[in-house]
Formats: sequence, structure tokens, C-alpha cells
Amino acid sequence: MTDSVVYDKLNGFPASMEEVRSRREKVKTLVVPHPRYSFIMSKIEEMHFYSKGSVQPESIFLSGETGVGKTTLLEEYRNRYPRSIIDGYTIVPVLYNKVPVGATPKSVAASLLRSLGDPAYDKGTENSQTARLLYFIKVCKVEMIIIDEFQHLIDRETKHVLNKASDWVKSFCDEAGVPVILCGMPESQKIFAHNAQLDRRFAEKIDMNRFCYTTREEQIEFRGFLKSIDEELPFYHKSFLADKKLSDRMFYATNGVPYYVNKILLEATTIAAKSGNDSLDENHLHEAFNMLKISNRPLVTNPFANEDFDILDAYELENRKRLDIKIS
Ligand SMILES: Nc1ncnc2c1ncn2[C@@H]1O[C@H](COP(=O)(O)OP(=O)(O)OP(=O)(O)O)[C@@H](O)[C@H]1O
Ligand SMILES: [Mg+2]
Repeated sequence: MTDSVVYDKLNGFPASMEEVRSRREKVKTLVVPHPRYSFIMSKIEEMHFYSKGSVQPESIFLSGETGVGKTTLLEEYRNRYPRSIIDGYTIVPVLYNKVPVGATPKSVAASLLRSLGDPAYDKGTENSQTARLLYFIKVCKVEMIIIDEFQHLIDRETKHVLNKASDWVKSFCDEAGVPVILCGMPESQKIFAHNAQLDRRFAEKIDMNRFCYTTREEQIEFRGFLKSIDEELPFYHKSFLADKKLSDRMFYATNGVPYYVNKILLEATTIAAKSGNDSLDENHLHEAFNMLKISNRPLVTNPFANEDFDILDAYELENRKRLDIKIS
């Protein structure tokens, strides 16, 4: 979480470009620890702790759709354990890495070496890179490895699992001697289905879901998320995002995916600051929503600044339109 800063009142005077830029940066870096986020964070913390000095370090697979906040969470965890230099060696307590697209054993090893800071990351054969990587993991006192974008072990065009790279990951996890977190989209399940040994090593699988909004508890949770965000928005006054009226609209607009919540607020912040407003209102959100193109929801309607909006009706209408298109 970022420190709360009080933003100057604009009092109707448009913010300067510099000021808009700084407020946009604030929104972009806004992270709030909602319950699922905190649960997964403490799970990782525990796993990190229990694995220290253990004969068998623990490993988990974190799965979630695009935009739910997996990378945000893992990067925050990595940032809690910054690198340092001790006796001329760089100490890297948590190594974070993304599987490159079209992964091969060599490209995965090279990208891990690069994340560790090896300037010659792409030099040498696959075997020598792997040996160097295992050596650096010891020397840099790596305590945990995070491998994000795990679904890149599936070929984008053929949709086949890249078996050599997934076998390499399995052996690497065995030899690294530290806990490993694999993270990726739900389709990564296919990699586990193809590689029973990898599946066994990552028997513990955690889902990071988008917010839901059906039950009262789910609505309270989403509204709690909006309230925490509202408290951090770069405006002098609150925007009351968590009020039922705005929260219903915000949920419908985003389907509970934090990425879209952030995108709408980012554009709305720009519009509001440019017009000298000291909080966000529905017109800003309406305009911001119009700027978004949500390709998997071509039939979505703009819920903001619509007095007659009803979330159930809006979903029903969207579904009906989808069915009408399918039939015709
Ligand atoms: N806890 C949070 N609080 C506020 N905003 C969040 C939070 N988590 C994610 N977001 C917003 O959602 C955006 C997308 O998150 P992130 O990139 O971490 O998703 P992801 O699950 O890694 O998606 P992908 O699978 O596409 O990589 C973030 O840039 C941030 O704006
Ligand atoms: Mg990500």
C-alpha cells in the first residue's frame, strides 16, 4: 500500500499537465490488500518461512484470469525482500521471473539468469546455463523463486504444451532447493495435465478469482475494495465509489476484474483533474468507460450517468443481445 498524501484542492481550476501526470501515476500504482489478496500473501509468507532450511521446500501454483492481480501481488512480495550487496555479492532473497513466449529450456534459463543480474545470461549451452543458474542461486542466497506467465509453456499457435521446457522447469524446481511459486492463467492447467511429475510437485494450487457480486457478502467485499481505493485516490474529496449506486455500476462495468477498475479510474482521474474537479463523479466515469474497449464484452452498455440502471436488468439485456446474435 502507498502512503496517503493529501492532494491540493483544484477548486475548478484545471490541473497542470505535470499535476495530471503525477495523479495518473498515483492511480497506476494503487494497490489495496483485499481479503483474497491478503490471504494469498500470507500463504506465500508462510511457505517462504516453512521452507527455510527444510529438506523439502514447498511449492504452489497460483492461477487466475488476466487482470485479477497475480503479478501485482507477486511483485509486491518480491519488493518486500529487496536485493542487497554483501561482501561484493548481490543477495537476491526472492527471484521473480516471467516465462518468455515460446519457451525453450535455454530461453527460460537465460531469462532467469538475466533476472539474477548475469550480464552473460544468454551465453553457453543449455547445460552450462543451467549449472550457472543453480550456482548463482546458492551464491546470491535466493530463498524463493517466482515464475510468472507459466502459460507461456503452451505454444500460442499450436496450443501444444512445450514439453522440453516444462520438463526443464520440473528438473530445475527439484534442483534449486528452494520453494518455487509458479503463476499463470487457468489454461496452465493443461501443462500440469501433460506433465504428471510437475503436477505432483505443484499439488497445492491456489486460485486468485475476480470479485463476485451475487451474495450480500460478495457485494460487501467488492464495496470494501472500492472504499479502500477511494481513500487512496489523488483527490481532495472522496468520490464515494463504495456507495451502492456507484458500486453496482462499477461492478457491471468491470465484471469485478481489478484491471478494469483501475483503467476506468485512471481515465476518470485524468478527465476530472483536467476539468478542475476535486473528486470523481458519474460523468467522469461515464466518459472514462467510453474510452475503454472490452473486447470480450462487445455488447456491454455504459452503466454510468444512467439513472435507470439496474445491474440485474443490465446483465440480462447483455445476455439477451448475445443470444439474439447467436440465433440470427
Ligand atoms: N490489489 C489490488 N488493488 C488495486 N488494484 C489492483 C490490485 N491488484 C491488481 N490491481 C490492478 O489490476 C491491474 C492488473 O493486475 P496484474 O497485472 O497484476 O494482473 P495479472 O493477474 O497478473 O494479469 P495477467 O494474467 O494479464 O498478467 C494492476 O495493474 C492494478 O491496476
Ligand atoms: Mg501478470
